[in-house]
Amino acid sequence: MMDQPARKPPKRKDDRVILQFDYDCFYAQVFENRNPALKSRPVGVKQKNILATCNYNARKLGVGKLMLISEAKKRCPHLVLIDGEDLTPFRDMSKVLFNFLRSHSWNNKAERLGFDEVFMDVTDIVDYNMFCLNRGSMADTFFYLSNKDPEQGFGCDLTAVAGCVVGPPASSAQLEDRTYVRLLLGSHLAQYLRLKMEADFGYTSTCGIATNKLLSKLAGSCNKPRNQTTLLGLKEEDVIEFMDGHNTRKVPGLGFKTAQLLESHVLGRHIDADSHSFDSSLTVRAVRQHPSISPGSLETLLGGPGAERGVGARVWSLLHGVDHTEVKEANDIPSQISIEDTYKGLETIPQITEELHKLACSLVRRMRIDLLVPDDDADSPGTQKWIARPKTLRRSIRSWPTRQGAAQSQSMNFSRVSRSGPLPNFIFDLGTGIDGIAQQLVAEALLPLLRRLQSDKRHKWNLQLLNICVANMVAGAGDDKTGAGRDIAVMFKKQDEVLRPWKVMQVSDDGRDDRPGEVMFEDSEIDVAWDYTAHPLCPACGHSIPPFAMAAHTRYHELGE
Ligand code: TTP
Ligand code: MG
Repeated sequence: MMDQPARKPPKRKDDRVILQFDYDCFYAQVFENRNPALKSRPVGVKQKNILATCNYNARKLGVGKLMLISEAKKRCPHLVLIDGEDLTPFRDMSKVLFNFLRSHSWNNKAERLGFDEVFMDVTDIVDYNMFCLNRGSMADTFFYLSNKDPEQGFGCDLTAVAGCVVGPPASSAQLEDRTYVRLLLGSHLAQYLRLKMEADFGYTSTCGIATNKLLSKLAGSCNKPRNQTTLLGLKEEDVIEFMDGHNTRKVPGLGFKTAQLLESHVLGRHIDADSHSFDSSLTVRAVRQHPSISPGSLETLLGGPGAERGVGARVWSLLHGVDHTEVKEANDIPSQISIEDTYKGLETIPQITEELHKLACSLVRRMRIDLLVPDDDADSPGTQKWIARPKTLRRSIRSWPTRQGAAQSQSMNFSRVSRSGPLPNFIFDLGTGIDGIAQQLVAEALLPLLRRLQSDKRHKWNLQLLNICVANMVAGAGDDKTGAGRDIAVMFKKQDEVLRPWKVMQVSDDGRDDRPGEVMFEDSEIDVAWDYTAHPLCPACGHSIPPFAMAAHTRYHELGE
Protein backbone atom coordinates (compact mmCIF):
# COMPACT_ATOMS: atom_id res chain seq x y z
CA MET A 1 0.00 0.00 0.00
CA MET A 2 1.00 3.54 -0.68
CA ASP A 3 2.63 5.39 2.18
CA GLN A 4 -0.10 7.45 3.79
CA PRO A 5 0.83 10.90 5.00
CA ALA A 6 -0.36 9.45 8.28
CA ARG A 7 -3.17 11.58 9.68
CA LYS A 8 -3.00 14.67 7.55
CA PRO A 9 -6.43 16.33 7.22
CA PRO A 10 -7.91 16.01 3.73
CA LYS A 11 -7.81 18.87 1.27
CA ARG A 12 -10.83 21.14 1.51
CA LYS A 13 -12.70 22.80 -1.32
CA ASP A 14 -15.16 25.44 -0.27
CA ASP A 15 -16.02 27.29 -3.44
CA ARG A 16 -19.48 25.80 -3.90
CA VAL A 17 -22.83 26.62 -2.33
CA ILE A 18 -25.10 23.64 -1.86
CA LEU A 19 -28.68 23.86 -0.61
CA GLN A 20 -30.33 20.80 0.86
CA PHE A 21 -34.11 20.96 1.17
CA ASP A 22 -36.08 18.48 3.26
CA TYR A 23 -39.85 18.87 3.43
CA ASP A 24 -41.24 18.81 6.95
CA CYS A 25 -43.14 15.64 7.95
CA PHE A 26 -43.72 15.19 4.25
CA TYR A 27 -46.43 12.52 4.04
CA ALA A 28 -48.35 14.23 6.84
CA GLN A 29 -48.17 17.57 5.02
CA VAL A 30 -49.63 15.97 1.89
CA PHE A 31 -52.72 15.00 3.92
CA GLU A 32 -52.83 18.34 5.74
CA ASN A 33 -52.89 20.19 2.46
CA ARG A 34 -55.74 18.05 1.25
CA ASN A 35 -57.66 18.64 4.44
CA PRO A 36 -56.42 21.79 6.21
CA ALA A 37 -58.52 21.04 9.31
CA LEU A 38 -55.83 18.45 10.11
CA LYS A 39 -53.21 21.15 10.59
CA SER A 40 -54.33 21.79 14.15
CA ARG A 41 -54.54 18.09 15.09
CA PRO A 42 -51.90 15.47 15.82
CA VAL A 43 -51.66 13.40 12.63
CA GLY A 44 -49.88 10.13 11.99
CA VAL A 45 -49.39 8.44 8.62
CA LYS A 46 -49.71 4.70 8.96
CA GLN A 47 -48.11 1.96 6.89
CA LYS A 48 -48.95 -1.50 8.19
CA ASN A 49 -48.45 -1.31 11.93
CA ILE A 50 -45.99 1.55 12.07
CA LEU A 51 -46.03 5.29 11.54
CA ALA A 52 -44.20 6.31 8.38
CA THR A 53 -44.27 9.81 9.80
CA CYS A 54 -46.34 12.13 11.97
CA ASN A 55 -46.86 15.87 12.03
CA TYR A 56 -45.17 18.17 14.51
CA ASN A 57 -48.31 18.44 16.71
CA ALA A 58 -47.97 14.71 17.26
CA ARG A 59 -44.20 14.97 17.81
CA LYS A 60 -44.80 17.47 20.63
CA LEU A 61 -46.94 14.84 22.32
CA GLY A 62 -44.18 12.25 22.24
CA VAL A 63 -45.10 10.49 19.01
CA GLY A 64 -42.25 9.78 16.62
CA LYS A 65 -41.41 8.58 13.13
CA LEU A 66 -41.35 4.79 12.69
CA MET A 67 -43.12 4.23 16.02
CA LEU A 68 -45.47 1.28 16.41
CA ILE A 69 -49.10 2.35 16.07
CA SER A 70 -49.91 0.78 19.42
CA GLU A 71 -47.22 2.82 21.15
CA ALA A 72 -48.24 6.03 19.36
CA LYS A 73 -51.89 5.53 20.37
CA LYS A 74 -50.81 5.00 23.95
CA ARG A 75 -48.87 8.24 23.96
CA CYS A 76 -51.49 10.19 22.09
CA PRO A 77 -54.99 8.68 22.17
CA HIS A 78 -56.37 11.46 19.95
CA LEU A 79 -53.87 10.83 17.19
CA VAL A 80 -55.56 11.04 13.77
CA LEU A 81 -54.32 8.06 11.79
CA ILE A 82 -54.34 8.14 8.00
CA ASP A 83 -53.42 5.27 5.76
CA GLY A 84 -50.31 6.01 3.74
CA GLU A 85 -49.93 2.75 1.83
CA ASP A 86 -50.67 4.34 -1.54
CA LEU A 87 -47.57 6.30 -2.44
CA THR A 88 -49.12 8.02 -5.48
CA PRO A 89 -50.04 11.30 -3.76
CA PHE A 90 -46.56 11.56 -2.21
CA ARG A 91 -44.83 10.77 -5.48
CA ASP A 92 -46.95 13.31 -7.35
CA MET A 93 -46.37 16.10 -4.86
CA SER A 94 -42.70 15.28 -4.69
CA LYS A 95 -42.42 15.83 -8.43
CA VAL A 96 -44.36 19.08 -8.33
CA LEU A 97 -42.13 20.50 -5.60
CA PHE A 98 -38.98 19.24 -7.31
CA ASN A 99 -40.03 20.83 -10.60
CA PHE A 100 -40.58 24.09 -8.74
CA LEU A 101 -37.09 23.99 -7.19
CA ARG A 102 -35.28 22.88 -10.32
CA SER A 103 -36.98 25.56 -12.40
CA HIS A 104 -34.82 28.00 -10.41
CA SER A 105 -31.59 26.20 -11.20
CA TRP A 106 -29.31 27.60 -13.87
CA ASN A 107 -26.88 24.71 -14.14
CA ASN A 108 -29.60 22.03 -13.79
CA LYS A 109 -27.75 20.56 -10.81
CA ALA A 110 -30.83 19.63 -8.83
CA GLU A 111 -30.93 16.14 -7.36
CA ARG A 112 -33.92 14.51 -5.76
CA LEU A 113 -33.28 11.92 -3.09
CA GLY A 114 -36.30 9.83 -2.20
CA PHE A 115 -39.52 11.79 -2.19
CA ASP A 116 -38.70 14.60 0.16
CA GLU A 117 -35.09 15.70 -0.20
CA VAL A 118 -33.56 17.90 -2.87
CA PHE A 119 -29.96 19.04 -3.26
CA MET A 120 -29.22 22.08 -5.40
CA ASP A 121 -25.82 23.38 -6.42
CA VAL A 122 -26.49 27.12 -6.69
CA THR A 123 -22.86 28.22 -7.00
CA ASP A 124 -23.44 29.81 -10.41
CA ILE A 125 -26.42 31.89 -9.26
CA VAL A 126 -24.60 32.95 -6.12
CA ASP A 127 -21.39 33.84 -7.99
CA TYR A 128 -23.35 35.94 -10.46
CA ASN A 129 -24.98 37.84 -7.60
CA MET A 130 -21.63 38.21 -5.84
CA PHE A 131 -20.30 39.80 -9.00
CA CYS A 132 -23.26 42.23 -9.15
CA LEU A 133 -23.11 43.06 -5.45
CA ASN A 134 -22.96 46.67 -4.36
CA ARG A 135 -21.13 46.52 -1.05
CA GLY A 136 -22.26 50.06 -0.26
CA SER A 137 -25.94 49.13 0.05
CA MET A 138 -26.05 45.65 1.49
CA ALA A 139 -29.30 46.31 3.37
CA ASP A 140 -31.13 46.90 0.15
CA THR A 141 -29.90 44.34 -2.35
CA PHE A 142 -31.65 42.91 -5.37
CA PHE A 143 -31.01 39.19 -5.78
CA TYR A 144 -31.03 38.21 -9.48
CA LEU A 145 -32.83 34.96 -10.26
CA SER A 146 -32.02 35.23 -13.97
CA ASN A 147 -28.86 36.28 -15.76
CA LYS A 148 -30.94 37.26 -18.79
CA ASP A 149 -33.88 39.12 -17.35
CA PRO A 150 -32.72 41.69 -14.77
CA GLU A 151 -36.25 42.14 -13.48
CA GLN A 152 -36.52 38.59 -12.19
CA GLY A 153 -35.46 38.40 -8.58
CA PHE A 154 -36.25 39.60 -5.10
CA GLY A 155 -35.09 42.24 -2.65
CA CYS A 156 -33.13 41.19 0.42
CA ASP A 157 -31.14 42.55 3.32
CA LEU A 158 -27.62 41.20 3.14
CA THR A 159 -26.43 42.69 6.41
CA ALA A 160 -27.07 39.28 7.97
CA VAL A 161 -27.38 35.63 7.03
CA ALA A 162 -31.04 34.59 6.57
CA GLY A 163 -32.21 32.07 9.16
CA CYS A 164 -30.08 30.24 11.71
CA VAL A 165 -26.32 29.99 11.66
CA VAL A 166 -23.92 27.41 13.02
CA GLY A 167 -20.26 28.24 13.30
CA PRO A 168 -18.57 31.37 14.56
CA PRO A 169 -20.59 34.61 14.52
CA ALA A 170 -20.13 36.70 11.41
CA SER A 171 -18.37 40.04 11.47
CA SER A 172 -18.44 42.81 8.90
CA ALA A 173 -14.82 42.08 7.97
CA GLN A 174 -16.07 38.82 6.52
CA LEU A 175 -17.45 40.64 3.51
CA GLU A 176 -13.94 40.27 2.15
CA ASP A 177 -14.25 36.52 2.48
CA ARG A 178 -15.72 35.03 -0.68
CA THR A 179 -16.86 31.87 1.07
CA TYR A 180 -18.81 33.96 3.55
CA VAL A 181 -20.43 36.12 0.86
CA ARG A 182 -21.40 33.03 -1.11
CA LEU A 183 -23.01 31.39 1.91
CA LEU A 184 -24.71 34.68 2.81
CA LEU A 185 -26.23 34.91 -0.66
CA GLY A 186 -27.08 31.20 -0.59
CA SER A 187 -28.98 31.66 2.67
CA HIS A 188 -31.16 34.38 1.14
CA LEU A 189 -31.83 32.32 -1.95
CA ALA A 190 -32.80 29.36 0.25
CA GLN A 191 -35.16 31.54 2.25
CA TYR A 192 -36.76 32.93 -0.88
CA LEU A 193 -37.32 29.43 -2.30
CA ARG A 194 -38.68 28.05 0.97
CA LEU A 195 -41.14 30.89 1.43
CA LYS A 196 -42.25 30.75 -2.19
CA MET A 197 -42.78 27.01 -1.97
CA GLU A 198 -44.92 27.60 1.10
CA ALA A 199 -46.89 30.44 -0.50
CA ASP A 200 -47.45 28.74 -3.86
CA PHE A 201 -47.85 25.11 -2.83
CA GLY A 202 -48.51 25.14 0.91
CA TYR A 203 -45.43 23.09 1.83
CA THR A 204 -43.00 24.01 4.58
CA SER A 205 -39.46 22.75 4.44
CA THR A 206 -36.14 22.87 6.16
CA CYS A 207 -32.93 23.80 4.39
CA GLY A 208 -29.24 23.45 5.04
CA ILE A 209 -26.78 25.81 3.34
CA ALA A 210 -23.10 24.87 3.19
CA THR A 211 -20.18 24.28 0.86
CA ASN A 212 -20.82 20.59 0.15
CA LYS A 213 -23.60 18.00 0.22
CA LEU A 214 -22.57 16.34 3.46
CA LEU A 215 -22.38 19.62 5.39
CA SER A 216 -25.60 21.01 3.92
CA LYS A 217 -27.52 17.91 4.96
CA LEU A 218 -26.13 17.98 8.47
CA ALA A 219 -26.70 21.73 8.78
CA GLY A 220 -30.29 21.34 7.58
CA SER A 221 -31.19 19.01 10.40
CA CYS A 222 -29.94 21.47 13.06
CA ASN A 223 -33.18 23.47 13.14
CA LYS A 224 -36.44 21.78 12.18
CA PRO A 225 -39.17 22.33 11.12
CA ARG A 226 -39.84 25.35 8.85
CA ASN A 227 -36.39 26.74 9.24
CA GLN A 228 -32.96 26.85 7.70
CA THR A 229 -29.38 26.72 8.90
CA THR A 230 -26.22 28.00 7.29
CA LEU A 231 -22.92 26.44 8.28
CA LEU A 232 -20.41 29.24 8.28
CA GLY A 233 -17.42 27.00 8.08
CA LEU A 234 -14.88 29.53 7.00
CA LYS A 235 -11.92 27.91 8.66
CA GLU A 236 -10.99 24.28 8.85
CA GLU A 237 -11.39 24.29 12.66
CA ASP A 238 -14.99 25.48 12.35
CA VAL A 239 -15.97 22.58 10.11
CA ILE A 240 -14.11 20.07 12.25
CA GLU A 241 -15.84 21.34 15.35
CA PHE A 242 -19.21 21.07 13.65
CA MET A 243 -18.50 17.50 12.51
CA ASP A 244 -17.01 16.41 15.82
CA GLY A 245 -20.26 16.90 17.70
CA HIS A 246 -22.15 14.48 15.45
CA ASN A 247 -22.82 10.88 16.12
CA THR A 248 -21.05 8.66 13.59
CA ARG A 249 -24.35 7.06 12.64
CA LYS A 250 -25.77 10.45 11.70
CA VAL A 251 -23.09 11.14 9.11
CA PRO A 252 -24.63 10.69 5.67
CA GLY A 253 -22.53 8.45 3.49
CA LEU A 254 -21.06 6.43 6.33
CA GLY A 255 -23.82 3.88 6.64
CA PHE A 256 -24.77 1.65 9.51
CA LYS A 257 -22.27 -1.09 8.75
CA THR A 258 -19.33 1.31 8.56
CA ALA A 259 -20.39 3.03 11.78
CA GLN A 260 -20.55 -0.37 13.44
CA LEU A 261 -17.05 -1.33 12.22
CA LEU A 262 -15.66 2.00 13.38
CA GLU A 263 -17.25 1.58 16.76
CA SER A 264 -15.90 -1.95 17.20
CA HIS A 265 -12.46 -0.76 16.21
CA VAL A 266 -12.36 2.32 18.42
CA LEU A 267 -13.85 0.60 21.47
CA GLY A 268 -11.66 -2.46 20.93
CA ARG A 269 -14.48 -4.99 21.14
CA HIS A 270 -16.84 -6.55 18.69
CA ILE A 271 -20.14 -4.72 18.40
CA ASP A 272 -22.93 -6.79 17.04
CA ALA A 273 -25.08 -4.72 14.73
CA ASP A 274 -28.19 -6.66 15.69
CA SER A 275 -27.72 -6.51 19.41
CA HIS A 276 -28.85 -3.63 21.53
CA SER A 277 -25.29 -3.19 22.69
CA PHE A 278 -24.62 -1.09 19.61
CA ASP A 279 -23.81 2.12 21.34
CA SER A 280 -24.84 5.04 19.22
CA SER A 281 -23.06 7.61 21.32
CA LEU A 282 -19.77 7.32 19.49
CA THR A 283 -18.97 10.73 18.06
CA VAL A 284 -17.04 11.73 15.01
CA ARG A 285 -14.50 13.32 17.37
CA ALA A 286 -13.86 10.00 19.14
CA VAL A 287 -13.17 8.27 15.84
CA ARG A 288 -11.22 11.09 14.24
CA GLN A 289 -8.94 11.55 17.24
CA HIS A 290 -8.36 7.88 17.90
CA PRO A 291 -4.62 7.33 17.37
CA SER A 292 -5.09 4.26 15.20
CA ILE A 293 -7.46 5.93 12.76
CA SER A 294 -5.91 7.19 9.53
CA PRO A 295 -6.81 6.95 5.85
CA GLY A 296 -4.59 3.87 5.62
CA SER A 297 -6.00 2.10 8.64
CA LEU A 298 -9.54 2.91 7.51
CA GLU A 299 -8.78 1.37 4.13
CA THR A 300 -7.63 -1.81 5.86
CA LEU A 301 -10.56 -1.82 8.22
CA LEU A 302 -13.29 -1.06 5.72
CA GLY A 303 -11.74 -2.36 2.50
CA GLY A 304 -11.75 -5.91 1.34
CA PRO A 305 -13.70 -7.87 -1.21
CA GLY A 306 -16.72 -5.98 -2.47
CA ALA A 307 -15.74 -2.70 -0.87
CA GLU A 308 -15.30 0.40 -2.95
CA ARG A 309 -11.74 1.42 -3.77
CA GLY A 310 -10.44 4.31 -1.73
CA VAL A 311 -13.03 3.82 0.98
CA GLY A 312 -10.44 4.74 3.64
CA ALA A 313 -9.72 8.13 2.11
CA ARG A 314 -13.42 8.79 1.57
CA VAL A 315 -14.38 8.01 5.15
CA TRP A 316 -11.40 10.01 6.44
CA SER A 317 -12.68 12.94 4.38
CA LEU A 318 -16.25 12.58 5.63
CA LEU A 319 -15.03 12.59 9.24
CA HIS A 320 -13.45 15.98 8.46
CA GLY A 321 -16.54 17.36 6.74
CA VAL A 322 -14.97 17.07 3.29
CA ASP A 323 -17.21 15.76 0.51
CA HIS A 324 -16.36 16.41 -3.12
CA THR A 325 -19.38 14.60 -4.60
CA GLU A 326 -21.29 16.63 -7.13
CA VAL A 327 -25.00 17.35 -7.10
CA LYS A 328 -26.32 15.31 -9.98
CA GLU A 329 -28.00 17.03 -12.88
CA ALA A 330 -31.73 16.59 -13.06
CA ASN A 331 -32.90 14.25 -15.75
CA ASP A 332 -34.54 16.54 -18.14
CA ILE A 333 -37.47 14.64 -19.36
CA PRO A 334 -38.88 11.16 -18.90
CA SER A 335 -38.58 9.13 -22.08
CA GLN A 336 -42.20 8.08 -21.82
CA ILE A 337 -45.14 8.05 -19.46
CA SER A 338 -47.03 4.82 -19.25
CA ILE A 339 -50.19 3.90 -17.35
CA GLU A 340 -51.73 0.47 -17.15
CA ASP A 341 -54.02 -1.79 -15.24
CA THR A 342 -54.83 -5.49 -15.28
CA TYR A 343 -58.26 -7.08 -15.30
CA LYS A 344 -59.92 -10.40 -14.85
CA GLY A 345 -61.37 -10.05 -18.34
CA LEU A 346 -63.07 -7.03 -19.88
CA GLU A 347 -65.61 -8.11 -22.42
CA THR A 348 -67.87 -5.28 -23.47
CA ILE A 349 -67.11 -1.95 -25.10
CA PRO A 350 -68.84 0.03 -22.29
CA GLN A 351 -66.62 -1.76 -19.73
CA ILE A 352 -63.53 -1.11 -21.80
CA THR A 353 -64.52 2.52 -22.36
CA GLU A 354 -64.90 3.06 -18.64
CA GLU A 355 -61.50 1.59 -17.88
CA LEU A 356 -59.87 3.53 -20.70
CA HIS A 357 -61.35 6.68 -19.24
CA LYS A 358 -59.77 5.95 -15.85
CA LEU A 359 -56.41 5.27 -17.47
CA ALA A 360 -56.68 8.40 -19.60
CA CYS A 361 -57.37 10.53 -16.49
CA SER A 362 -54.26 9.09 -14.83
CA LEU A 363 -52.22 9.67 -17.95
CA VAL A 364 -53.22 13.33 -18.30
CA ARG A 365 -52.67 13.88 -14.57
CA ARG A 366 -49.22 12.29 -14.75
CA MET A 367 -48.30 14.29 -17.86
CA ARG A 368 -49.20 17.48 -16.03
CA ILE A 369 -47.11 16.47 -13.05
CA ASP A 370 -44.07 15.29 -14.95
CA LEU A 371 -44.01 17.72 -17.83
CA LEU A 372 -45.28 21.06 -16.52
CA VAL A 373 -43.08 23.67 -14.87
CA PRO A 374 -43.87 27.18 -13.66
CA ASP A 375 -43.62 29.69 -16.51
CA ASP A 376 -41.78 32.65 -15.06
CA ASP A 377 -41.98 34.57 -18.33
CA ALA A 378 -45.78 34.56 -18.32
CA ASP A 379 -47.70 37.70 -17.42
CA SER A 380 -49.97 36.13 -14.85
CA PRO A 381 -48.46 34.30 -11.89
CA GLY A 382 -49.17 30.60 -11.57
CA THR A 383 -48.98 30.02 -15.33
CA GLN A 384 -47.38 26.73 -16.32
CA LYS A 385 -45.65 25.56 -19.44
CA TRP A 386 -44.82 22.19 -20.97
CA ILE A 387 -41.14 21.28 -20.79
CA ALA A 388 -41.73 18.58 -23.38
CA ARG A 389 -44.51 17.34 -25.59
CA PRO A 390 -44.78 13.65 -26.43
CA LYS A 391 -45.61 13.02 -30.06
CA THR A 392 -46.78 9.44 -29.94
CA LEU A 393 -49.65 7.69 -28.26
CA ARG A 394 -49.44 3.96 -27.86
CA ARG A 395 -52.09 1.52 -26.79
CA SER A 396 -51.28 -2.00 -25.72
CA ILE A 397 -53.59 -4.80 -24.76
CA ARG A 398 -53.26 -8.35 -23.66
CA SER A 399 -56.14 -10.79 -23.85
CA TRP A 400 -56.95 -13.95 -21.98
CA PRO A 401 -56.97 -16.83 -24.38
CA THR A 402 -60.43 -17.54 -25.68
CA ARG A 403 -61.51 -20.74 -27.35
CA GLN A 404 -62.25 -18.75 -30.41
CA GLY A 405 -58.84 -17.08 -30.25
CA ALA A 406 -57.03 -20.33 -29.57
CA ALA A 407 -58.61 -21.92 -32.54
CA GLN A 408 -57.70 -19.01 -34.75
CA SER A 409 -54.15 -18.46 -33.78
CA GLN A 410 -52.16 -20.04 -31.03
CA SER A 411 -49.56 -17.32 -31.20
CA MET A 412 -52.01 -14.58 -30.28
CA ASN A 413 -52.60 -16.04 -26.85
CA PHE A 414 -51.12 -14.14 -23.93
CA SER A 415 -49.30 -11.87 -26.28
CA ARG A 416 -49.15 -8.18 -25.88
CA VAL A 417 -50.21 -6.21 -28.90
CA SER A 418 -49.42 -2.55 -29.32
CA ARG A 419 -50.51 0.11 -31.73
CA SER A 420 -49.16 3.62 -31.96
CA GLY A 421 -50.43 6.81 -33.48
CA PRO A 422 -49.83 10.52 -33.23
CA LEU A 423 -50.82 12.08 -29.92
CA PRO A 424 -53.59 14.63 -30.50
CA ASN A 425 -52.73 18.20 -29.56
CA PHE A 426 -55.78 18.84 -27.38
CA ILE A 427 -54.11 16.81 -24.65
CA PHE A 428 -51.86 19.84 -23.95
CA ASP A 429 -54.81 22.19 -23.42
CA LEU A 430 -54.50 23.48 -19.86
CA GLY A 431 -57.82 25.33 -20.06
CA THR A 432 -59.79 22.06 -20.04
CA GLY A 433 -60.16 19.81 -17.01
CA ILE A 434 -58.50 16.41 -16.83
CA ASP A 435 -61.82 14.62 -17.10
CA GLY A 436 -62.83 16.47 -20.27
CA ILE A 437 -59.51 15.79 -21.94
CA ALA A 438 -59.67 12.15 -20.95
CA GLN A 439 -63.14 11.79 -22.48
CA GLN A 440 -62.00 13.30 -25.74
CA LEU A 441 -58.89 11.13 -25.75
CA VAL A 442 -60.93 7.97 -25.29
CA ALA A 443 -63.44 8.90 -27.98
CA GLU A 444 -61.08 10.27 -30.58
CA ALA A 445 -57.88 8.32 -30.13
CA LEU A 446 -58.06 5.32 -27.81
CA LEU A 447 -61.23 3.61 -28.99
CA PRO A 448 -60.35 4.06 -32.67
CA LEU A 449 -56.91 2.60 -31.99
CA LEU A 450 -58.48 -0.28 -30.12
CA ARG A 451 -60.82 -1.03 -33.00
CA ARG A 452 -57.82 -1.24 -35.28
CA LEU A 453 -56.42 -3.95 -33.07
CA GLN A 454 -59.34 -6.13 -33.93
CA SER A 455 -60.63 -6.14 -37.44
CA ASP A 456 -62.97 -9.06 -36.96
CA LYS A 457 -66.26 -7.45 -35.94
CA ARG A 458 -67.52 -10.68 -34.37
CA HIS A 459 -64.52 -10.83 -32.07
CA LYS A 460 -65.25 -11.17 -28.37
CA TRP A 461 -62.99 -9.12 -26.14
CA ASN A 462 -61.52 -10.70 -23.08
CA LEU A 463 -58.94 -8.19 -21.97
CA GLN A 464 -56.43 -8.92 -19.32
CA LEU A 465 -54.43 -5.74 -19.58
CA LEU A 466 -54.78 -2.22 -20.91
CA ASN A 467 -51.81 0.09 -21.23
CA ILE A 468 -51.65 3.60 -22.61
CA CYS A 469 -48.37 5.34 -23.08
CA VAL A 470 -47.10 8.62 -24.48
CA ALA A 471 -43.59 8.65 -25.90
CA ASN A 472 -41.30 10.29 -28.40
CA MET A 473 -40.78 13.44 -26.37
CA VAL A 474 -39.91 16.70 -28.03
CA ALA A 475 -38.30 19.07 -25.58
CA GLY A 476 -39.09 22.72 -25.27
CA ALA A 477 -42.22 24.68 -24.58
CA GLY A 478 -42.32 26.18 -28.06
CA ASP A 479 -45.37 25.29 -30.06
CA ASP A 480 -44.92 23.12 -33.06
CA LYS A 481 -46.02 25.60 -35.66
CA THR A 482 -43.02 27.79 -34.95
CA GLY A 483 -40.74 24.81 -35.22
CA ALA A 484 -39.32 25.53 -31.80
CA GLY A 485 -38.31 22.67 -29.61
CA ARG A 486 -35.36 20.42 -29.99
CA ASP A 487 -35.91 16.80 -30.80
CA ILE A 488 -34.34 14.94 -27.97
CA ALA A 489 -35.38 11.54 -29.16
CA VAL A 490 -31.79 10.83 -30.10
CA MET A 491 -30.83 11.17 -26.48
CA PHE A 492 -32.72 8.08 -25.52
CA LYS A 493 -30.43 5.19 -25.07
CA LYS A 494 -32.82 2.52 -26.19
CA GLN A 495 -33.84 2.74 -29.77
CA ASP A 496 -37.15 1.09 -29.06
CA GLU A 497 -38.21 3.87 -26.77
CA VAL A 498 -38.80 5.92 -29.83
CA LEU A 499 -41.86 4.59 -31.48
CA ARG A 500 -42.70 4.93 -35.09
CA PRO A 501 -46.30 5.75 -35.84
CA TRP A 502 -48.46 2.88 -37.02
CA LYS A 503 -45.96 0.21 -36.35
CA VAL A 504 -47.69 -2.99 -35.38
CA MET A 505 -45.99 -5.21 -32.94
CA GLN A 506 -46.52 -8.41 -31.13
CA VAL A 507 -44.44 -8.97 -28.08
CA SER A 508 -44.46 -12.19 -26.22
CA ASP A 509 -45.29 -12.18 -22.57
CA ASP A 510 -41.98 -12.07 -20.77
CA GLY A 511 -43.36 -12.51 -17.30
CA ARG A 512 -42.78 -8.93 -16.25
CA ASP A 513 -44.35 -7.51 -13.17
CA ASP A 514 -47.93 -6.72 -13.94
CA ARG A 515 -48.95 -4.87 -10.83
CA PRO A 516 -52.09 -2.97 -11.50
CA GLY A 517 -51.66 0.76 -11.48
CA GLU A 518 -49.18 3.08 -12.96
CA VAL A 519 -45.96 2.16 -14.59
CA MET A 520 -43.44 4.84 -13.94
CA PHE A 521 -41.17 5.80 -16.75
CA GLU A 522 -38.26 4.68 -14.64
CA ASP A 523 -39.47 1.11 -14.83
CA SER A 524 -38.16 -0.90 -17.65
CA GLU A 525 -40.79 -0.72 -20.28
CA ILE A 526 -42.47 -3.36 -22.20
CA ASP A 527 -41.52 -3.24 -25.77
CA VAL A 528 -37.93 -4.29 -25.59
CA ALA A 529 -38.07 -7.51 -27.48
CA TRP A 530 -39.06 -6.51 -30.95
CA ASP A 531 -38.52 -9.09 -33.51
CA TYR A 532 -37.16 -6.98 -36.32
CA THR A 533 -36.84 -9.91 -38.65
CA ALA A 534 -40.49 -10.94 -38.77
CA HIS A 535 -42.62 -8.46 -40.59
CA PRO A 536 -45.67 -7.33 -38.69
CA LEU A 537 -49.08 -8.34 -39.86
CA CYS A 538 -51.50 -5.73 -41.00
CA PRO A 539 -54.42 -5.91 -38.57
CA ALA A 540 -56.89 -4.98 -41.26
CA CYS A 541 -56.04 -7.54 -43.93
CA GLY A 542 -53.57 -9.83 -42.18
CA HIS A 543 -50.85 -9.41 -44.78
CA SER A 544 -47.25 -9.40 -43.68
CA ILE A 545 -45.93 -5.91 -44.36
CA PRO A 546 -42.32 -4.74 -43.96
CA PRO A 547 -42.05 -1.89 -41.43
CA PHE A 548 -40.98 0.68 -44.03
CA ALA A 549 -44.16 0.03 -45.98
CA MET A 550 -46.57 -0.08 -43.08
CA ALA A 551 -47.37 3.64 -42.96
CA ALA A 552 -48.36 3.66 -46.61
CA HIS A 553 -50.24 0.40 -46.25
CA THR A 554 -52.26 1.67 -43.28
CA ARG A 555 -53.00 4.86 -45.15
CA TYR A 556 -54.34 2.72 -47.98
CA HIS A 557 -56.83 1.11 -45.59
CA GLU A 558 -57.74 4.44 -44.04
CA LEU A 559 -58.59 5.91 -47.38
CA GLY A 560 -60.63 2.87 -48.23
CA GLU A 561 -62.72 3.07 -45.03
P1 TTP B 1 -38.16 12.12 6.37
O1 TTP B 1 -37.70 13.37 5.74
O2 TTP B 1 -37.19 11.29 7.11
O3 TTP B 1 -39.32 12.43 7.39
P2 TTP B 1 -40.42 13.56 7.38
O4 TTP B 1 -40.35 14.42 6.18
O5 TTP B 1 -41.74 12.88 7.59
O6 TTP B 1 -40.13 14.37 8.69
P3 TTP B 1 -39.06 15.51 8.94
O7 TTP B 1 -39.86 16.74 9.25
O8 TTP B 1 -38.30 15.02 10.12
O9 TTP B 1 -38.22 15.65 7.71
O10 TTP B 1 -38.85 11.17 5.31
C1 TTP B 1 -39.70 11.66 4.30
C2 TTP B 1 -40.93 10.79 4.11
O11 TTP B 1 -40.55 9.49 3.77
C3 TTP B 1 -41.78 10.70 5.36
O12 TTP B 1 -42.80 11.68 5.39
C4 TTP B 1 -42.32 9.32 5.33
C5 TTP B 1 -41.41 8.54 4.43
N1 TTP B 1 -40.60 7.56 5.16
C6 TTP B 1 -40.92 6.22 5.07
O13 TTP B 1 -41.90 5.85 4.42
N2 TTP B 1 -40.14 5.31 5.74
C7 TTP B 1 -39.08 5.68 6.49
O14 TTP B 1 -38.39 4.84 7.08
C8 TTP B 1 -38.76 7.08 6.59
C9 TTP B 1 -37.61 7.55 7.41
C10 TTP B 1 -39.54 7.96 5.90
MG1 MG C 1 -38.65 15.45 5.63
